[in-house]
Amino acid sequence: MKIIDAKAESAISYGGLIEKIEILRSTLRWASKLDRPQIQKLLKQCNALRDEVMQLSHKERFIKASSSAAGARRKQTTAQRRKALLERSFVFEGVFGESQKLIDALEIAEKAAPTDLPVLIDGESGTGKELMAKVIHANGSRADKPYISVNCGAIPDNLLESELFGHKRGAFTGAASDRSGKFETAHTGTIFLDEIGELPLQGQVKLLRVLQSAEIQRVGSDKTIEVDTRIVAATNKNLLEMCAQGGFREDLYYRLSVIQVTLPPLRERKDEIPLLIEYFSDEAAEKLQRRPIKLSRRLRTFLLNYAYPGNIRELRNTIFRITCLAGDSADFEHLPETLRPDSKDTRENTQEDTAAMSLADIKKAASDEAEKLFLERGLQEMGGRVSELARQIDMNRSHLQTLLKKHDLRSKDYRAKS
Ligand SMILES: Nc1ncnc2c1ncn2[C@@H]1O[C@H](COP(=O)(O)OP(=O)(O)O)[C@@H](O)[C@H]1O
Ligand SMILES: [Mg+2]
Repeated sequence: MKIIDAKAESAISYGGLIEKIEILRSTLRWASKLDRPQIQKLLKQCNALRDEVMQLSHKERFIKASSSAAGARRKQTTAQRRKALLERSFVFEGVFGESQKLIDALEIAEKAAPTDLPVLIDGESGTGKELMAKVIHANGSRADKPYISVNCGAIPDNLLESELFGHKRGAFTGAASDRSGKFETAHTGTIFLDEIGELPLQGQVKLLRVLQSAEIQRVGSDKTIEVDTRIVAATNKNLLEMCAQGGFREDLYYRLSVIQVTLPPLRERKDEIPLLIEYFSDEAAEKLQRRPIKLSRRLRTFLLNYAYPGNIRELRNTIFRITCLAGDSADFEHLPETLRPDSKDTRENTQEDTAAMSLADIKKAASDEAEKLFLERGLQEMGGRVSELARQIDMNRSHLQTLLKKHDLRSKDYRAKS
C-alpha cells in the first residue's frame, strides 16, 4: 500500500514541478526590477528546465507502461506478439522477422512513434536502423509530413552546419544564394540523423542548442527560425563509451536517447535466416523479373551458418547478387569472392563428405539441426527459463541442460533484459 502511495506521489510531483516552473515564468515575465535581456535569459533557462522535467515525466510514464505490459507479453509467443502488432494496424514498412529482440524493438517503436520524444536507435551496421527510423515515422502523427534523412558521417565537417541549418548568401565562399538546411526541410516532420556518433564535437554543440531551443540560425544569418522536427538518431557506436572518452557530449546523448531501441545482429537471430532467404529471394526475383533462385545444398548450408558481419544488408545483397548472377540454381561460385569458401578444397571435401556420409549420418545431421532449432525457439518463448521449458516440453531438466550444452545454447542469452 505504501509503495503505491509513493509512486502516485512521484507522478504528481512532476506535475507539481511543472506548475511551479510555470509560476516562476509568469513572475519573471512581469519582473519590474530586471531589464529585458536579463528576463529573456532567465525565461530561456526556465524553458530548458521545463523541457527537462517534461522529458523525465514522459520517460517515467513510458517505463511504467512498458513494464506493466511486460508481464502480459511474456506469456505470448513472439509470433502472437507480431500478430497483435498487425492487428493494432502497426505499419511494418517491410520489417521482417519475429525474433524476441526484434519484436521487443518493434513494440518500443510502437509506443514511441505517436509521441514527439527523441529516439536513439543503436545496432551494428546493416541491422535495419534506418528502416526502424522509417517505421517510427510511419506510425506517428507526422507520417504524412516530411521525413528527412541526414548521414552525419558523410558530410565534410566544414559543410555540416550549412547542410543541417542552411546558409545565407555570401556566408562563405561558394554560398551563392540563400539556402535552407535539412532541419528547415524537415519542419513539421521527422529528421533522421544517421551515424550520429560521427558528428564532430562542434556540430554536437550546435545540435544540442537546436534541441534545447527548437530554433535554428542559418549560417551567416542572425535571424532565428523556429523548427518543429521530431528527432530520430542512429548509431553503430557505443555512445556512452564515447562520452566517457570525451568523443561525444553526455548532455546531447541524454537528449537524444530519451527512448532507446536496440537492434539485434543477425547472428543472434540465426533461426530467422531461412525465412529471410526466402523473403529476399522472392523480392529479388520480383525486382529482377525472374524465377526465385534455387540454392545448392552446400550453398544453403553455408548461408545458414555464415556469421554476417554486415547483418541483414549483407544477406539481402548476397541474395540479390546470387539471383542476378546465377541461372536457375546457384552455388559457391555465385558468392562474392571474399565470402566464397575456398571452392576447390570445399568442393572436393564436400563431395568426399557426402560420398562418405551414409543415409544414417545425413539423417542424424538433419535431426541435430531440427533439435537445435526446436530448443532455440523454446528458449525464446520461455524467455530463457529452462525449468519452465522442461515442463512445457515434458523433459527431464538435467537432460534438457545436457542438450543445451551440446548445441552450445545459453539460457541467459534468451532472458529479457529489464
Ligand atoms: N527486419 C528486416 N526485414 C527486412 N529487411 C530488413 C530488415 N532489417 C533490415 N532490412 C534491410 O536490410 C538493409 C539494411 O538496413 P538499414 O536499415 O539500412 O540498416 P542500418 O541502417 O542499420 O545499416 C535494407 O535494405 C533494409 O531494408
Ligand atoms: Mg544505415
